[in-house]
Amino acid sequence: MERFDAVIIGAGAAGMFCAAMAGQAGRRVLLLDNGKKPGRKILMSGGGRCNFTNLYVEPAAYLSQNRHFCKSALARYTQWDFIDLVGKHGIAWHEKTLGQLFCDDSAQQIVDMLVAECEKGSVITRLRTEVLSVSRDDSGYTLELNGDTVSADKLVIASGGLSMPGLGATPFGYKIAEQFGLKVLPTRAGLVPFTLHKPLLEQLQTLSGVSVASTITAEDGTVFRENLLFTHRGLSGPAVLQISSYWQPGEFVTVNLVPDCDLAAFLDEQRAAHPNQSLKNTLAMQLPKRLIECLQLLGQIPDVTLKQLNVRDQQALVDTLTHWRVQPNGTEGYRTAEVTLGGVDTDELSSRTMEARKVPGLYFIGEVMDVTGWLGGYNFQWAWASAWACAQAL
Ligand code: FDA
Repeated sequence: MERFDAVIIGAGAAGMFCAAMAGQAGRRVLLLDNGKKPGRKILMSGGGRCNFTNLYVEPAAYLSQNRHFCKSALARYTQWDFIDLVGKHGIAWHEKTLGQLFCDDSAQQIVDMLVAECEKGSVITRLRTEVLSVSRDDSGYTLELNGDTVSADKLVIASGGLSMPGLGATPFGYKIAEQFGLKVLPTRAGLVPFTLHKPLLEQLQTLSGVSVASTITAEDGTVFRENLLFTHRGLSGPAVLQISSYWQPGEFVTVNLVPDCDLAAFLDEQRAAHPNQSLKNTLAMQLPKRLIECLQLLGQIPDVTLKQLNVRDQQALVDTLTHWRVQPNGTEGYRTAEVTLGGVDTDELSSRTMEARKVPGLYFIGEVMDVTGWLGGYNFQWAWASAWACAQAL
């Protein structure tokens, strides 16, 4: 039976980085994955250009039952450390918006970089490998694989969450946590589009593909200012993906479709300057034409000139456009979600090493645990930072 210092299960962002760092520190590491290729989510990420980190990473950008848990790892391996590594590999990058950093060329470069770092650490990688069972005794961990059995002093679970089963997501990590008596918090899809109830969906059908600037507010008061996209299933776009992580079934979100404008003041100014201008043409200065046409059909925008618009109707219109209360039917679920909220309870883990407090030698890194970042490179930075913290302890 082959023996390793550490076996890492999951050759995604966290697993590859942890394997590379531990290997380079002299550990004998085996990295396992059930897929054909390593880093499948990295390849799909950021529209194929991988939004690999964010300039403004801070603990407040992460959701977790314990909001303090992520602080130590994020402070010890920062976005600047990863940017430095990317630079050493000659990967050109650019900032898109809100500090989001993407490869100029392709996400494949990040996977190639991680593979090269693993090779530098003499990591042994085995793909298409199923872990049939895991057991622990005084000498460490024994893993029965499809083919053979391996053992290790330490076991790292980097098998991710449930989002995108098509890319190899499995509940493996949660099952291992439960096998060793660790608490797993309920999971749900995050960074995911909303679906809408039928009457509203049908009313908004003509808007599919329309994108508008917005602010979107959850019932807990969390606000994001980003674009909202109408889709044939409901609502998407960065604003909706962000707020979905703060939304619970049955709750409403409130949308301001004209976040850059004091709409009442704008209408008053326009009325003073152009009293005979139609309300519809006036609103077209602030909103996409298709949205106005849809709201007209729904009777939300009266067919009047500005001088004909009475105070009550103006107030109703301003309310509709700045405080649109939507009750999503649900989300598109794990099939399209970028992340999984919840997971292995961080109270069970050391925030310095990611080791399970009551199971020596067992570690959890990346998305499998209850730490979830905002859209915009925050989740990869958590994968790098938690992996790095763990690697120091292997
Ligand atoms: P990850 O899911 O990357 O890796 C887990 C690995 O474990 C996989 O390779 C899987 O095959 C393997 N595995 C699972 N079960 C196993 C089993 N039973 N046996 C063996 N292996 C097993 N984030 C970000 O910061 N910027 C971005 O641009 C994007 N974009 C993006 C796009 C899309 C489409 C998705 C789905 C997600 C993103 N994300 C993102 C989120 C980001 O991809 C995610 O948070 C990280 O990949 C999490 O890294 P992990 O290594 O923890 O899991």
